[in-house]
Amino acid sequence: MIIQTERLILRPWCDADAESLYEYAKDDRVGPAAGWPVHTSVENSREIIRTVLSEPETYAVCLKEDNKAIGSIGLMVGKQSNLGLPDDEGEIGYWIGVPFWGRGLIPEAVRALTRRAFLELGLSTLWCGYFDGNEKSKRVQEKCGFVYHHANRDIYWKLIDRVLTEHVTRLPRDVWESSVRPSDRITIRPETHGDYKDVVSLVLRSFREGTDYSDGTDIVALIEEIRDSEYYIPELAFVAELDGEIVGHFLFSHFPLSRTPEGGHGGAADTDVVMLAPVSVHADHLRQGIGSAMIRLGIAKVKEMGFRGIIVEGNFRFYNTVGFRTSSEYGIFPVSGYPMTEPRCQMCMETFPGSLKDRGGYVVYDMYYNA
Ligand SMILES: CC(C)(COP(=O)(O)OP(=O)(O)OC[C@H]1O[C@@H](n2cnc3c(N)ncnc32)[C@H](O)[C@@H]1OP(=O)(O)O)[C@@H](O)C(=O)NCCC(=O)NCCS
Repeated sequence: MIIQTERLILRPWCDADAESLYEYAKDDRVGPAAGWPVHTSVENSREIIRTVLSEPETYAVCLKEDNKAIGSIGLMVGKQSNLGLPDDEGEIGYWIGVPFWGRGLIPEAVRALTRRAFLELGLSTLWCGYFDGNEKSKRVQEKCGFVYHHANRDIYWKLIDRVLTEHVTRLPRDVWESSVRPSDRITIRPETHGDYKDVVSLVLRSFREGTDYSDGTDIVALIEEIRDSEYYIPELAFVAELDGEIVGHFLFSHFPLSRTPEGGHGGAADTDVVMLAPVSVHADHLRQGIGSAMIRLGIAKVKEMGFRGIIVEGNFRFYNTVGFRTSSEYGIFPVSGYPMTEPRCQMCMETFPGSLKDRGGYVVYDMYYNA
């Protein structure tokens, strides 16, 4: 199981992480604060990876940029937990290396694991704990919605051979559901045939109520056109679900940039960039962060698939918030007949620094209809 957040990847620990683990876990400010002993050698770290850190739902916390382990987070369910919980409850524990403190990375990881615990594992309540004086950890739990429950006075903590008071915090699922933004509760997954009908009603209402230029019928036609064409990329067509209902839809398709404003290109085989279009959020859920959460995940998938850029045409006030820039900055231009008159509405994004350098070209929309 791999969990992705905006900045992190949570993935299983492996032997190759031993050096990285030792680098952070040899620091006595890290382990003991969470009830773990200081690691004594790389070999000791490797042993801990093979035993303790190989438990289910135990993840290496890694920055996306290099996938190197910088911390750990785990969910212990039911009797496996230190608190001896019922089967439908779990306890989250975590730590992160000192150089990474203060960047909100652990709250990001805790939120992601909380989401998995409630939505994917079906747990009813989560618990966390911090030891006396650990103000940072207390703050992490407050930020993630956990509320103080009780103190376990004078716990004899066997692993570090110390007597401590553990403060226990709690987050029931219904409290979590009513406190987090819908964008933190959505599940984004590839679309299937079974979704098509719901997608049509979503798109119609989204564009009718969310824009002043379309009643949605042309957009539904565009989606169908793309799905039937060689430009469709099934892995990059997504729906977002909230409490079992589809609240968002978006797709990226192959988009051959033309060398001249008159058009002309080599078809789907000629694509190193993708077009993001259309994007729809349910009319009852606009401005709740769902659109940006969807696009961020989509961008990560596009990067994984190795495309060098993404083109989009639309509301720059929205797309700029997720990192799109005016495409003319990259030598990519609209042509006449272009639906939107404001130049900032034609945007693009590099998938890695410099990936669109010297790419250039024209966005000519004749491709779907000639496919
Ligand atoms: C455009 C759309 C996809 C955005 O999705 P969303 O879930 O409403 O957007 P988010 O809540 O993630 O917005 C993130 C930020 O983008 C900006 N933004 C979003 N919609 C905006 C709008 N209509 N006007 C100005 N800024 C906007 C805001 O800065 C917003 O943050 P804020 O709400 O904290 O101020 C959605 O409104 C929609 O489906 N509209 C109808 C169809 C459509 O226009 N599709 C896009 C065609 S290009």
